[in-house]
Amino acid sequence: MIATPLVGTSPSNGPLVAVLGGGQLGRMLGLAGRPLGVAFRFLDPAPDATAGAVGPLLIGALGDAARVQEVARGATVVTYEWEGVPADAARAAAGSAPVRPDPRALEVAQDRLVEKEMFRRLGIEVAPFAPAGDAAGVARAVDAVGLPALAKTRTGGYDGKGQRLLRTGADVDRAWDALGAVPLLVEARVDFERELSVVAVRSAPGETRCWPLVENHHADGILRVSKAPAPGTTLAMEQAAADLAARLLEDLAYVGVLAIELFERDGRLLANELAPRVHNSGHWTIEGAETSQFENHVRAVLGWPLGSTAARGHAAMINCIGALPDRDTVLAIEGAHFHDYEKAPRAGRKVGHVTVTAATAEERDQRLAAVAAVV
Ligand SMILES: Nc1ncnc2c1ncn2[C@@H]1O[C@H](COP(=O)(O)OP(=O)(O)OP(=O)(O)O)[C@@H](O)[C@H]1O
Ligand SMILES: [Mg+2]
Repeated sequence: MIATPLVGTSPSNGPLVAVLGGGQLGRMLGLAGRPLGVAFRFLDPAPDATAGAVGPLLIGALGDAARVQEVARGATVVTYEWEGVPADAARAAAGSAPVRPDPRALEVAQDRLVEKEMFRRLGIEVAPFAPAGDAAGVARAVDAVGLPALAKTRTGGYDGKGQRLLRTGADVDRAWDALGAVPLLVEARVDFERELSVVAVRSAPGETRCWPLVENHHADGILRVSKAPAPGTTLAMEQAAADLAARLLEDLAYVGVLAIELFERDGRLLANELAPRVHNSGHWTIEGAETSQFENHVRAVLGWPLGSTAARGHAAMINCIGALPDRDTVLAIEGAHFHDYEKAPRAGRKVGHVTVTAATAEERDQRLAAVAAVV
């Protein structure tokens, strides 16, 4: 079922990008690609998926190989905006068009154990971790990594869901059943100074670029605020982040944008997880960088030259969770940029974001405070 007709929606002879997933990330890919003469088509299970505003929407499960082939037919390239797309379903598109990034990245990102083992293999520092396959295994894993620890489901977790903090022996005993008796990864809780992320892009010929490090603030497991460039980072930290990102991108033969969530501790960077897609902590790049993560992802997957990832000044992004603030109030704040995803309000749902841009970090913080007061 096509929600809107496929005819008459593509620029003549222009490239067509098929996107697996039709959420706000897909929508922002479309909004970035259209000025370059690129058309988009989306596959999503929700008939009201928000990306439907920027291109035809095919309704279907992202694990349905037939549906994936259907959305891929006639496309220049197939990409994805959700890391839950089953790798085999993504591969099903390969007969119609190249799939970028390579679906191997999905397999890595979908299993926290595989992901952490990959970081370790590439010499990227991580918190001590151990897998657990049953209740006794949780206790053995905790013996290995110590308390406090976090037990996380190996697959399916997002926005802090599928995790339990283990402080005591009683927590350890409860964790297996509480998390649904599924394979777990147990990791030491990192006593970090702050959370950072690096958003990076690799082109088809293999050029890698990174945006400046981003400082991230979470509440209840959900990203609330990002500041970029992250205040107070050293050149050595920026280089360390770029270096670990490049190692990952090259190992995965990756083409497109990828984000790595990091913990900063004693000036060192520990990798938490990767997202094989454009990322919430990169939304600031739309107004705050020379080229946005969305535009560079489109450029990369189409085999085009990458744009500069330099910051234009100082930016901050604040997520609108559950409901949007009053638009006019936000727009009245100098330097504020309003993004409405046109999604129905629902508790815990990301329905929009606001980015503030400024010439200095002080001005950025003042504008952020003004926005935070109404979001
Ligand atoms: N080992 C750890 N030590 C300390 N804090 C942690 C650790 N692992 C996770 N956290 C905290 O929990 C948050 C969510 O964890 P994580 O990113 O692993 O899960 P997630 O559910 O995949 O989140 P999302 O998909 O929203 O990024 C992290 O951003 C961090 O604040
Ligand atoms: Mg995370």
